[in-house]
Amino acid sequence: MKKQLLELIICPHCLPLEHSLVADIIQEQGGDIETGALKCPHCAALFPIVEGVALLDPHAVDSQRALNKYETDEVVSSYLWSHFGELLGDEQASQAYRTWAELMRPQGGVALDVGGAVGRFTFEMSTRCDFAVGIDTSQAFVRAARQLMRERSMVASLKDEGLLRREVTIRLPDDWRSDRVDFVVANALALPFRKKSISLFSSLNLVDKVPSPIQHLWEMNRVTRDEHAQFLLSDPFSWSVEAAPVEEWLGGKADGRHAGKGLANVAQLLAEGQGQLAPAWQVDEPGSVWWKIRTHSNHYELIRSCFVHANR
Ligand SMILES: C[S@@+](CC[C@H](N)C(=O)[O-])C[C@H]1O[C@@H](n2cnc3c(N)ncnc32)[C@H](O)[C@@H]1O
Repeated sequence: MKKQLLELIICPHCLPLEHSLVADIIQEQGGDIETGALKCPHCAALFPIVEGVALLDPHAVDSQRALNKYETDEVVSSYLWSHFGELLGDEQASQAYRTWAELMRPQGGVALDVGGAVGRFTFEMSTRCDFAVGIDTSQAFVRAARQLMRERSMVASLKDEGLLRREVTIRLPDDWRSDRVDFVVANALALPFRKKSISLFSSLNLVDKVPSPIQHLWEMNRVTRDEHAQFLLSDPFSWSVEAAPVEEWLGGKADGRHAGKGLANVAQLLAEGQGQLAPAWQVDEPGSVWWKIRTHSNHYELIRSCFVHANR
């Protein structure tokens, strides 16, 4: 974790109180803490930094990591293709990340890409703001994103068919700035960031994956600025009881709280700006983009991700 992040992050255990973390650095390289720990002087929580990756998810349970599909080599490889297939000149690659990036106006300040996986959108945001942070609960994703940040290229092994694999080299374009990004393991529902500290906030294909979608929106709203802020949410709204109980869904049901469709409900919640979503957001016309995940050479998942962009 880059030392400059120390100014931004706070203890996620102590929220909504804001307590800075103190770094105990064992090994560092050019301003990047390689090994060490972050300690909260208030609650005494200790967050390790292992191989450059800061582990700031207060809800992480080590025994559940093995069950998380986003920690597997197979899914890391799938997301490397999804995020960077365009750079490989792959004719099947999706243009979704470029379309989402074009929705964000360049603006000073810090961008936060929540559930950012292997980093494509965070790198895109490094061209549109002063500094961009990608967070994800998957250590494997954050490790891959940081490897790209540090080395600017990576050999990825893509599944071809059965046991056959194909190696490709991902090279980052020069305008995606390694000096303007960092990636940490953290949780969308307990963001280790100060209130009103973020100018650009993105949540791509995440809201239907968290156990409390409304808490995700509240956390987004806590950390974003009251003015000169933008929020981009895009999602297929594939609600499932595996991710969250039906009562928590922000759409996809005929009755009860948040009945109707997810995209319209999220847009309405932002525009109303009530309670923990105040002050209200100005919501642009919603849209959608085709997003693609690759399993192997002959198998892709095509997903309509519906987006809403808002500013205030
Ligand atoms: C469907 S993927 C989308 C990844 C990326 N945003 C994109 O659109 O390519 C969902 C991502 O959210 C992450 N994730 C799931 N729950 C999370 C949480 N509570 N906080 C942060 N990230 C989370 C997963 O590890 C995964 O990287």
